[in-house]
Amino acid sequence: MYRMGEEEVQELRKVFLNKQLFRVGDPASGHLGEVVKFEQAWAKHIGTEYALLMSGGGTAALMCGLVGLGIGPGDEVLIPAYTFMATASAVLAVGAIPVLVEVDDSCTMDPEDFEKKISPQTKAVIPVHMVGMPANMERICEIARKHNLKVIEDACQAVGGSFKGKKLGAWGDVGAYSFNVFKIIGCGEGGGLVTSDRMIYERASIFHDSGTAFRPYAGDFTIPIFLGLQFRASEIMGAIMNVQLSRLEGILRDLRKVKKMFMEELSGISSIGFARSNDINGDCGVVVAFRFENENQALEFAQSEGVSGWRPLDSRKHVWFDWEPIINKRIGGHPATNPYHFPQNANLRKDYTKEMYPKSIENLGRTVFISINPDWSDQEIKAKISACKKAAEKLK
Ligand SMILES: Cc1ncc(COP(=O)(O)O)c(C=O)c1O
Repeated sequence: MYRMGEEEVQELRKVFLNKQLFRVGDPASGHLGEVVKFEQAWAKHIGTEYALLMSGGGTAALMCGLVGLGIGPGDEVLIPAYTFMATASAVLAVGAIPVLVEVDDSCTMDPEDFEKKISPQTKAVIPVHMVGMPANMERICEIARKHNLKVIEDACQAVGGSFKGKKLGAWGDVGAYSFNVFKIIGCGEGGGLVTSDRMIYERASIFHDSGTAFRPYAGDFTIPIFLGLQFRASEIMGAIMNVQLSRLEGILRDLRKVKKMFMEELSGISSIGFARSNDINGDCGVVVAFRFENENQALEFAQSEGVSGWRPLDSRKHVWFDWEPIINKRIGGHPATNPYHFPQNANLRKDYTKEMYPKSIENLGRTVFISINPDWSDQEIKAKISACKKAAEKLK
């Protein structure tokens, strides 16, 4: 959440004075319908038929997407070795098993390794657009189609980004977003899902609201209502998200402008290069991504005075070998609900050793990110760029 302020306060004031915080209500009797308004605007913005705002974050959105696609015990879902652990936990939460795929020099899923990792038990793939950087959706969707796999895009860290002119989240069968406080826009905690498939939407919608059977629109569903969980969004979330959406284009424009300044000023310096982008125009500009000859140079650059860089390899959260509960297969609150113990999953791949993904370690270790603030002054940007130039000169 880069920007928030008076506009959110004004919209929240209206919601509180209206005294109807539940998302379901009748506009004819004064209900503001903030959640529905956001869902309609978000679907339009992304270019899909349907959107659902939910509490429970991007994790819930991924879970609802998986449920929407009918993924469960006995299924393998391919995810990249570089993502937040939530991508894997959503797969486990529906009883399926995550199997990892290498990331390439763009720090997103390597399409060639994705194809190699497909087994007869693989049902879906979750490419992740990390730190605003688009995965190669064209190639991933092509391979998925060839092998009859479903695609769920994890766009939690790339809200508003695109690949080849099409919004991230609109390429897959389902797109999932996080609106927590660390993301491009948000409401503190929350998430969203998009799809253009009516059946996926119905299943996801029913699953995200355990009270669906009692809603006035229950009769609109074309499938029998089953019992799900409780991820409904409140009108408070909806009101904040409506304002945040109006800020999105401005935030992306300014992030991208800063990134461009870094790239123009630093291109042509022989000791540093930039990480390959699958589509620099669709990149959100969350980070400047550098790529070095070797891991030592990357470390030296990241730690140089005034640079404030970080290697994705060192994030402590986003690389598979740091997902301690998953590595040690401690899932859920009861041994019998742990998908690693399910008989249907007995023959699925469940190993996540450090040696299994050498390409990811190399790519993530040679990359350095500098996080961008869209509200940096020109002076602050110049100081950062000059620190990068000095650090580059010192590299052996
Ligand atoms: C790549 C990725 N996937 C999923 C999630 C889960 O989102 P949330 O924390 O909103 O549940 C996050 C965010 O934290 C994320 O960065």
